[in-house]
Amino acid sequence: MKRFAGQTVLVTGGNKGIGRGIATRFAQEGAKVAIAAIDKDTPEAARAIAAETGAETLGLVLDVTDAAAVRATYEEVEARLGALSVSVQNAGVITIAKVEDLTEREWDFNLDVNTKGVFLCCQEAIRRFRASGTRGRLINTASGQARQGFIYTPHYAASKFGVMGLTQSLAKELAREGITANAICPGIIHTEMWDYNDRVWGQMLGDYGPGELMAEWVEGIPMGRAGTPAEVGALVAFLASEDAAYITGQTINIDGGLIMS
Ligand SMILES: NC(=O)c1ccc[n+]([C@@H]2O[C@H](COP(=O)([O-])OP(=O)(O)OC[C@H]3O[C@@H](n4cnc5c(N)ncnc54)[C@H](O)[C@@H]3O)[C@@H](O)[C@H]2O)c1
Repeated sequence: MKRFAGQTVLVTGGNKGIGRGIATRFAQEGAKVAIAAIDKDTPEAARAIAAETGAETLGLVLDVTDAAAVRATYEEVEARLGALSVSVQNAGVITIAKVEDLTEREWDFNLDVNTKGVFLCCQEAIRRFRASGTRGRLINTASGQARQGFIYTPHYAASKFGVMGLTQSLAKELAREGITANAICPGIIHTEMWDYNDRVWGQMLGDYGPGELMAEWVEGIPMGRAGTPAEVGALVAFLASEDAAYITGQTINIDGGLIMS
């Protein structure tokens, strides 16, 4: 299927993990794909996606917490790939700490990247959709922690509940313009972020060796396995497609049945 032929799609955090799965799916479906992430290897990752899929890609280094840099990135994407149709706000961070050890700096770091970063990118994408008259799509990566806070991550949970709230508010403002805004809640997807979680939560919750906490939590998933970035990419592509034209303001779990609300 080439549902996005000729369309320009931007995925933040698209150089690795879940974002890479999302970017690759759009590239496979004919989109011109820009990825923007803080990692220095982002241009190289874009070239690898192009080599794998034959799509036109662009990789830009971006810190999503920097409003001026966000604006410049969207400008460059449109200058080089054409008017934007889909913006996927996926870049995110996590840290894990007991409440009395949780620093203000950590709180700000998680909220800045996960919530303010999503807001700044949505704001810039909306400016561009309106300027070009595009019935664009916003898709924001929240988390199972937008449904239920887990232990030792009140800041991360707050940041992801925030993503759900801002998505709903934007959806209401944009609905009459044909622009949709939705959020997704991945459960357990094996990425570098999960390796960090496995190690740090594992140390804090008990005497877990490498991979053991992950294995225990995956056992608790009704489907009995972790998800893949490609599976998340398939959901995001659906939400960006014509088939999802009447879906807005929703937060959709993709977690093998882990959370059913
Ligand atoms: N892996 C999971 O199980 C899981 C579960 C729920 C939600 N999520 C969310 O999915 C998203 C992707 O996570 P992942 O597991 O692929 O993690 P990852 O660590 O593999 O990738 C994180 C991405 O975010 C980018 N990033 C971080 N800070 C940035 C900044 N300031 N500016 C621009 N880019 C920045 C990184 O460059 C990288 O591309 C995150 O929002 C995360 O919170 C992940």
